[in-house]
Amino acid sequence: MIKESEYKKRRDALTKKLSNNSLTVVFSAENKTRSNDTNYPYRQNSNFYYLTGFKEDNSALVIAKSKKETKTILFVQHKDEVYELWNGKRLGKLEARKRFLVDAVIVSKDFKKSIKKLCKEKKYLYYDFQQKIPKAKKLLIDNFKTHRDISPLIGEMRLVKSKSEISLIKKAIEITKIAHHEAMAFDKRNKNEYELLASIEHNFKKHGAYSDAYTSIVACGDSANTLHYISNDKPLVNGELILIDAGCEYEYYASDITRTIPVNTKFSEPQRELYNMILDTQLKIINMIKPGVFRSDLQKEAEILLTKGMIRLGILKGKYKKLIKKQEHKKYYPHGIGHWMGLDVHDEAPYLDANKKEIALKKGMVLTIEPGIYISKDDKNVLKKFRGIGIRIEDDILVTKTSYNNLSGGIAKTVKEIETRSQHKKMA
Ligand code: GLY
Ligand code: MN
Ligand code: MN
Repeated sequence: MIKESEYKKRRDALTKKLSNNSLTVVFSAENKTRSNDTNYPYRQNSNFYYLTGFKEDNSALVIAKSKKETKTILFVQHKDEVYELWNGKRLGKLEARKRFLVDAVIVSKDFKKSIKKLCKEKKYLYYDFQQKIPKAKKLLIDNFKTHRDISPLIGEMRLVKSKSEISLIKKAIEITKIAHHEAMAFDKRNKNEYELLASIEHNFKKHGAYSDAYTSIVACGDSANTLHYISNDKPLVNGELILIDAGCEYEYYASDITRTIPVNTKFSEPQRELYNMILDTQLKIINMIKPGVFRSDLQKEAEILLTKGMIRLGILKGKYKKLIKKQEHKKYYPHGIGHWMGLDVHDEAPYLDANKKEIALKKGMVLTIEPGIYISKDDKNVLKKFRGIGIRIEDDILVTKTSYNNLSGGIAKTVKEIETRSQHKKMA
């Protein structure tokens, strides 16, 4: 758990970055309609959560900063018996005052009235340009001539994880590990992708993760060549591989893991060849990680290794430098080597600094490393034995003082480890 004092420390650190004579407003997420009058499960806005740890909707954090003083105010929903009967308890103003280390707590229905006073003599308004601003609050924006985006300032802070954040990420990965190991052991005969997905989601919830961190991908055979395959509705076919990109969210922190495993417990020879080439690349790239290294260095090296590997396997023909120059490798490896991970699976944290220079890796950052190769079943340019195979291997890496810690390194990954776990429990 993250202590109230840590949230306060974050708000104080953010306040230091703000101009004097400014008003900052960070809103909670809005409820999203699923269909007619039903909603999706509510998920708090990550920036608001990062600064408050508060999970209720219709809330806002306001920081009013002038030269002489700063006031931090949390707007929360009022207690309402009827609303709470239908939708669950609200914390309310009195309890919020006890819990949050802010200067004042005000009920959200008084937002407009209060904000009018707070606006006085303030020149700048900071808010998240990307966030959908609740209609009633749009007025606020019109009061200011100078608008500034708050999100890059919070993003810089989110880039480096605290000890408590790292322990929540570790917990998310621990649960995801159980789910992936169970998926390997799952008896896949005459089953569908969504039945395997159900096992994964069951394990997330069983072990304390209420939600996934993103829509899982369970893609058998050629489906793995659709990068954002989320329909997960096809049969598991004997002899094919299944790409499983699934990670739970634990107390708002993500994990993001991909394993590619055989349906029938054994990799075929071409599957194994391609798999080992990608695994070898992944291990080499992970080994490069340490403070001072750039993500673009990892990207470049991954492209070189994968291109050389594809030449060796006969998937590409020619010299690797020329192939890369002509971007030929992108046909089979079209995505990035990894991304920041934290409160969001693709964490909303910058890759470039204020001078547009790339940010180097630093202790406490968490990123994924996820090389993959995708060969369509219809690609006549590639040896038949490789067609219809899509493989990605993804781990979550913490940058340490001198090197790295592969937080998901305990999840079976070599062909042997996966095959051992894939011996179906209920084999006839
Ligand atoms: N699961 C999303 C990603 O790997 O980036
Ligand atoms: Mn990822
Ligand atoms: Mn992923």
